[in-house]
Amino acid sequence: MPENEALWLPAKGAAFRRGPAPRTPPQADEILVRTRAVAVNPVDRLIPVIGGFVYPWLSYPAILGSDVAGEVVAVGPGVTRFRVGDRVLGHAVGPEKASNRAAEGAFQSFALLRESMAAPIPAPLSDEAAAVLPLGLSTAACALFEPDLLSLRWPTAATGAMGETILVWGGSTSVGCNAIQLATAAGYDVFATASPHNFDLLRRLGAAGVFDYRSPSVVPDMIAALRGRRMGGALAIGAGSAAACLRVLGALPGRRFVATASPPVSFDAVPAGRARHLAPVLLRMALASGRLWLAARRRGVTLRMIWGGALLTTATGPMIYRDYLPRALAEGRHRAAPEPLLAGKGLDAIPAALEMQRRGVSARKVVVRL
Ligand SMILES: NC(=O)c1ccc[n+]([C@@H]2O[C@H](COP(=O)([O-])OP(=O)(O)OC[C@H]3O[C@@H](n4cnc5c(N)ncnc54)[C@H](OP(=O)(O)O)[C@@H]3O)[C@@H](O)[C@H]2O)c1
Repeated sequence: MPENEALWLPAKGAAFRRGPAPRTPPQADEILVRTRAVAVNPVDRLIPVIGGFVYPWLSYPAILGSDVAGEVVAVGPGVTRFRVGDRVLGHAVGPEKASNRAAEGAFQSFALLRESMAAPIPAPLSDEAAAVLPLGLSTAACALFEPDLLSLRWPTAATGAMGETILVWGGSTSVGCNAIQLATAAGYDVFATASPHNFDLLRRLGAAGVFDYRSPSVVPDMIAALRGRRMGGALAIGAGSAAACLRVLGALPGRRFVATASPPVSFDAVPAGRARHLAPVLLRMALASGRLWLAARRRGVTLRMIWGGALLTTATGPMIYRDYLPRALAEGRHRAAPEPLLAGKGLDAIPAALEMQRRGVSARKVVVRL
């Protein structure tokens, strides 16, 4: 078999470098996958910049990347759901605290996936389209179903409408596209925000109400449209989303809980390895977090951050990747959204893909073919 190659992050704050990597055989409940497509995420840019704060446990050299689609080349003991030759997608968990293993990062030719965080790819779906799913799906599932977050009824247990509405602020993000689909599959109505050119996409994914988050009257408009409904909580994605969600929930009956995916301040402008650029951003972050906390307290709303990798160690992981996704994808009930945007081919294309992601996309997930 061919040798393994990876895009290494050699040290904290260093630049990515391509180089040989060991090919690690799968242990119990793991599969080894020849990666054919990977998607890039904001976290892959954040770790080189603020990895010391957010991933203090991370061992270097590290291999990042969460989103894998590829072909199984070996299975570990105890694996029953997959065989050599199967096409799979999976959430690669290399940088997670419970893993912290380069062999489980996505940005390499042969990556290890956990059986509980992988699902078969149905024949009509390309590897590039399948690679858009994992981290967005895990993060949305974490927000909606983890007991310490929105704790909604699972889509695998859904037998009818719940009579509650979930607000998804940032519906056209990859987290949002999955959240709309998961919440509707679980029997909740969803109101979501996006730019108007993405309204149709959100409706196709199941949103009952769609709003332009840039409109100056979006919060009062939403509150007016939601009158008479009972809220089940909100998922806040994107800059300014948490503040807006808690204003909406604070004005309506139901659960006053906002699960938030994005920090209140963006780290996008901080160059990797430039600690002196970081201090003012961290200060702004502390001030913005304090303001948010006060606003939430005033309105009686609980605000809690999501950690998309939490599914690695909780029952939500197998519920999503084993019990929900395979059938929902095969039957067309869950769509791989947003559409992939191909940034190039090979590990060397990943840094440019990350830059494309940083500059901003609209309802697209930046993908690299390997
Ligand atoms: N906590 C976690 O575990 C976790 C995991 C994954 C992602 N995240 C975070 O979740 C966020 C989304 O990540 P992603 O990969 O899903 O993003 P993405 O798909 O790259 O986001 C692109 C979308 O963001 C929307 N957008 C831009 N500014 C917005 C705003 N102010 N409010 C709402 N939507 C806005 C745009 O919508 P339009 O084009 O329609 O305007 C665009 O479609 C990021 O902040 C990321 O860091 C957190």
